[in-house]
Amino acid sequence: MKTFYTNNPKEAAEFIKKGGITAFPTETVYGLGANVFDETAIAEIFVAKQRPSDNPLIAHIANVNQINLLASEINETAQRFIDAFFPSPLTLVLPKRPEVPLIATANLYTIGVRMPKNELARKFIECCGTPIVAPSANLSGKPSPTTWQAVSEDLDGKIDCILQGEATEIGLESTVVDCTSDIPYILRTGSVTLEQLREVVADTQLYTLQKDEIAKSPGLKHRHYSPKAKVVLLTENGEWKPENNCAYIGLHLPRSKSEALKICRNIDEYAHEVFAFFRECDHRNITTIYCETVAEQGLGLALMDRLKRAAED
Ligand code: TXA
Ligand code: MG
Repeated sequence: MKTFYTNNPKEAAEFIKKGGITAFPTETVYGLGANVFDETAIAEIFVAKQRPSDNPLIAHIANVNQINLLASEINETAQRFIDAFFPSPLTLVLPKRPEVPLIATANLYTIGVRMPKNELARKFIECCGTPIVAPSANLSGKPSPTTWQAVSEDLDGKIDCILQGEATEIGLESTVVDCTSDIPYILRTGSVTLEQLREVVADTQLYTLQKDEIAKSPGLKHRHYSPKAKVVLLTENGEWKPENNCAYIGLHLPRSKSEALKICRNIDEYAHEVFAFFRECDHRNITTIYCETVAEQGLGLALMDRLKRAAED
């Protein structure tokens, strides 16, 4: 298949209307989209990404009215989050309408719904005329793509179209909150922080996977965000044994020497750069990437979540 490249959202949407799959930018990471009601196109997403079929997709909307096409009920908690945050890098898990096919939700009776803040993303979805389901536009297990070039590296020739936008603003995937029970649970941390969510619904909790428990969010159990290189977490001023082909990313200068080095001004920049840095290290055949740990609060909680997952064997 030849992949078509364009920066015109209308042109990119034509592929969706014809039953194809199109990658598009959002403020978090690039997504790989299909019409939420088109089972054949959704099946193609799973094939192109080599995504396990038990991992549900997030539906993206252009305006709040479209929630009603997807969710059968919006409880008070969900409504408060919608009013406070949409459009934003926040995904709400809601009971799904029967029209939403089970292939989109990996057989769950709930659907993740998100209205992206990125204007090109919303313009694209609007041109499609339907909500768009989209996982991150990377091969399964690889770091999420923060540029259209990263999407191209993983998926060129496997998808119909790439909508070329800017590099994504945030660089980490959206916060996912389960709103189907009385207490909202954060299934995946992101740039909408626990602290911000608690300002709107005070009893919001962080969901932590218990051993032997079936994951509430199947995506949580899959290996994620991994470069080819081994990822090792370091505390501030940590050192490592001299070795060739190692890299470092963090907020402070390390004491040891490295082949590739990225010093970030703050946690926002660290989050913004980390996946692109992982990909760059793979191009340079780096064998070990040392990542400085950060305080687990605010965006730091989401950044540490991704770093820890990348460091898992
Ligand atoms: O920022 C993002 O969320 C990006 C952009 C493209 O919007 N998308 C993204 O999608 O990261 P993906 O598929 O890579 O991650 C979706 C996460 C997975 O952990 C999945 O398990 C969870 O959301 N999820 C989706 N639907 C769910 C549902 N109905 N119940 C529980 N978890 C759900
Ligand atoms: Mg992903």
